[in-house]
Amino acid sequence: MGKPVRITETVLRDAHQSLIATRMTTEEILPIVEKLDDIGYHSLEAWGGATFDSCLRFLNEDPWERLRKIKDKAKKTPIQMLFRGQNILGYKHYADDVVEYFVQKSIANGIDIIRIFDALNDIRNLKAAINASKKEKGHVQATVCYTISPVHNIESFVKLGKELEEMGADSICIKDMAGLLLPYTAYDLVKAMKEKIKIPIQLHTHYTSGEASMVYLKAIEAGVDVIDCAMSPMAMGTSQPPTEPMVAALQGTPYDTGYDLDKLVEICEYFKPLREKYISSGLMNTKVMGVDVNTLKYQVPGGMLSNLVSQLKQQGKEDKYDEVLKEVPRVREDLGFPPLVTPSSQIVGTQAVLNVVMGERYKMISKETKGIVRGEYGKTPVEIKPEIVKKIIGDEERITCRPADNIPPELEKMKKECAEYIEQDEDVLSYALFGQVATKFFEYRQAQKYKIDPDLVDREAKTHPI
Ligand code: CO
Repeated sequence: MGKPVRITETVLRDAHQSLIATRMTTEEILPIVEKLDDIGYHSLEAWGGATFDSCLRFLNEDPWERLRKIKDKAKKTPIQMLFRGQNILGYKHYADDVVEYFVQKSIANGIDIIRIFDALNDIRNLKAAINASKKEKGHVQATVCYTISPVHNIESFVKLGKELEEMGADSICIKDMAGLLLPYTAYDLVKAMKEKIKIPIQLHTHYTSGEASMVYLKAIEAGVDVIDCAMSPMAMGTSQPPTEPMVAALQGTPYDTGYDLDKLVEICEYFKPLREKYISSGLMNTKVMGVDVNTLKYQVPGGMLSNLVSQLKQQGKEDKYDEVLKEVPRVREDLGFPPLVTPSSQIVGTQAVLNVVMGERYKMISKETKGIVRGEYGKTPVEIKPEIVKKIIGDEERITCRPADNIPPELEKMKKECAEYIEQDEDVLSYALFGQVATKFFEYRQAQKYKIDPDLVDREAKTHPI
């Protein structure tokens, strides 16, 4: 038996976040959106995650404008975003009023499916975002972050999935951000979830360890409903399994996606020269494009590997890469075995870099590491050992409630702070999440609007074809 499998295409979000530090521009995205829309994908993952930050910080783009432009060209396919629970798209916890307004505006600007996760799998941190999405009639995809530790197992993941279903989720995503899932574990996990959970199950993984396509095949046999793939020029390595081979593999079977391979090849042709461009500019680092067995050994997610490489490069300490990789699981254990995904992956990664570069563990401790120990991110899967608590925060008080319960409403204050820059309602959200990064962009936007001859900008764009 079996039923047609559906695919979420990640080329516009996770694929370039994982391979080229989220630097794909709107100008590069837009010409291909209509063709992507024609495939009949389950959804196009096109927003959220790091795309928002990257637009403002590196690309001088308004992320809201990008979303509207994509939506304008993708009339048939649901647009999906990745949403970090109470962290929204940032790296700390925000007040509920900011979470609610962000969800409202995301849906108003074109998002159909919101994949919501919490780095610690602390469901209290998903509550505000889930409730807000339901209120705005969005599809809530609640996430189980997959990880390996002494306290995580199939039973615990199924229990979590069940709780999320009871909280009102419309579907469940098993998010294997690090590429740790193995084919037969994936089979058992999906099978167990399908037995206990009624809503659709979607599987997300990364190719980092070389397992991903095999993982999908076994998950499909176990009854998974949707899988995440990326167009082949932006697939594999730290990204997702390639879309076209997956579609071909299922053709003529009960799992046939029904997608047109010829149409996919046309899209592939569009991304090929972009890939060449990213490689020759150095944006795509060959180090993250092959199989990295260290992933299985050290449990480091795709995006994190490329971040570690660039952090070490900046300090001229590339030779410490292997040492840092070994330090990562030690820091993770110290911090109560958090799954490694933004922001916990950055926190653990940065602390591991500090521990190695300083030549002494916890000689320098980041603000965020202290935050995890204080409980500012929620409950860690395992209680942090008293001696580690002592070492990192001394006798400071720790939080045991839902962290956002301690955060008073912030939206009105934010509105006042950035009033001079506001050109659209959404601007306050860019500011709430990214402060000075947002105001710097607002200033750039003003300069573009008032000082620069639009013809000149247009000519400039035309002389840099993609
Ligand atoms: Co991912």
